[in-house]
Amino acid sequence: MAAASAESPPPSSRRGTRLAIATQRRAWTRRVDTWDRHNDAGMAKVAAAAIEAVALRPGLVCVDLGCGGGRLALELARRGATVVGVDVSAAMVERMESLARTEGLEQVRGVVSPIEELRLDPQSVDVVISNYALHHLLDADKGRVVRAAYDWLRPGGQFINADMMLGRGTTAQDRQVIASKVRVMAKKGLPGLWRIAKNAGRYLLRLRERPITPEAWSRLLVEAGFTEVTATNVVAEANVVRGVKPPH
Ligand SMILES: C[S@@+](CC[C@H](N)C(=O)[O-])C[C@H]1O[C@@H](n2cnc3c(N)ncnc32)[C@H](O)[C@@H]1O
Repeated sequence: MAAASAESPPPSSRRGTRLAIATQRRAWTRRVDTWDRHNDAGMAKVAAAAIEAVALRPGLVCVDLGCGGGRLALELARRGATVVGVDVSAAMVERMESLARTEGLEQVRGVVSPIEELRLDPQSVDVVISNYALHHLLDADKGRVVRAAYDWLRPGGQFINADMMLGRGTTAQDRQVIASKVRVMAKKGLPGLWRIAKNAGRYLLRLRERPITPEAWSRLLVEAGFTEVTATNVVAEANVVRGVKPPH
């Protein structure tokens, strides 16, 4: 098991990061009972694509960043991996651990920590994976986390980020993604229109949703030293970006 010495990590010294962490903790703790039900076909496809991207063999040590109720962590454990699920919300971690107990998945462990403050031993894990969580981080923290993940991984280790990935609406590709999301939500009537308004505010102001493009993620991986970097579109705005830490 990875030595995750994150139980009482030093709080971030950056005010913006501390604020972003507190906002996410509040927002996601409120959603603990409803998020699992947000299990639409698109989300299932993205999670499946993230799992498929892992060159998995029993006994691999995986870290799931922003694990929520354990969508990825539990599936990886069912396939024989040892998993550390990390989430800023204690309620989410409890949910994951309780589901793991129900299934008898003893090799799942939760750590309550902001991703930005997570400390793991160098070269202690085989896979760092995340589903729909890293777009919540400030841009500077995205880069820091990719560099930290590079240090945590053993040579040959894999970094896999499945996430909402788009820019700020300046390219035709961004506009196409935004238009398709708006069309889907608009079909849901008044609740859908309310979601459009809420999401537009968050996206434009980058308050809680801070996606960047697959190209920008790929660049962060290359700059950190990852090789074999690929970006694969799954559905609409969702992409899987994967890189490998070079073997010795
Ligand atoms: C959209 S949910 C995805 C949950 C899970 N990965 C899944 O696929 O169902 C985002 C998760 O990221 C967590 N999260 C958001 N910001 C975080 C941060 N800075 N540090 C740790 N977890 C964070 C939230 O608490 C939430 O559980």
